[in-house]
Amino acid sequence: ARRAAWPQPLAGRRVVVTAGPTHEAVDPVRYLANASSGKMGVALARAARDLGAAVTLVLGPVALDAPFGVAVEPVTSAAEMAERTLAAAAGADLVVCAAAVADYTPAAPADHKLKKAAEHLDAIPVVETRDILAAVSALPGERVVVGFAAETDDLLGHARAKLASKGCDLVVANDVSRPGIGFGSDENAVTLITADGERAVPTAPKDDIARAVIDAACDLMTSAPN
Ligand code: CTP
Ligand code: CA
Repeated sequence: ARRAAWPQPLAGRRVVVTAGPTHEAVDPVRYLANASSGKMGVALARAARDLGAAVTLVLGPVALDAPFGVAVEPVTSAAEMAERTLAAAAGADLVVCAAAVADYTPAAPADHKLKKAAEHLDAIPVVETRDILAAVSALPGERVVVGFAAETDDLLGHARAKLASKGCDLVVANDVSRPGIGFGSDENAVTLITADGERAVPTAPKDDIARAVIDAACDLMTSAPN
């Protein structure tokens, strides 16, 4: 039998990663979106794959190649991402919510292209989207759930609050106000926050940050595979 050349702590485990932005339709040609490149989430999917996991990547609209050896579920909207993620999460041992999910979606997207002259749009009524991370954290069963907190101010304060409010096991705090890290870049610097403490991971390529996040999640996984 062939044997892996490096340790595979996630062999036999199922991992789900959400990544990228979501697009919320205003009309057939316009949408609300955000600046997520998807790079961090794709790096997380690769890191989990390299440690032996069967990985499902629920991926919003991004300009990235699908990683080899990962089952990609392409989605567009927050509602679709919620549906695909919750379905996959039910049988997963680890769920990492790295997507920049839209917080709001147009309440009544138009079924025709809105015309500038005819419709004088000066506001877009919106409703809140479902919080996927909180919903996954509330699922019955044993799994480790990881969320991100991308903040521009009071990073650790907001991130600690998210650990509690979302009900997840680990929050990756990500300062998106610092140039050269975070949105769109190839590097990141994060603080890993659990109920037991906090650990800073200094600026490094997103692949290295991803490995640190997945390693920390592995440390939280004690029970046998689902
Ligand atoms: N998240 C999610 N579903 C949403 C909104 C957020 O799964 N509808 C997840 C993100 O993937 C991330 C975490 O929740 O892992 C935190 O996202 P963030 O936008 O920082 O937090 P919010 O709760 O949306 O609060 P705010 O945007 O006001 O900071
Ligand atoms: Ca948000």
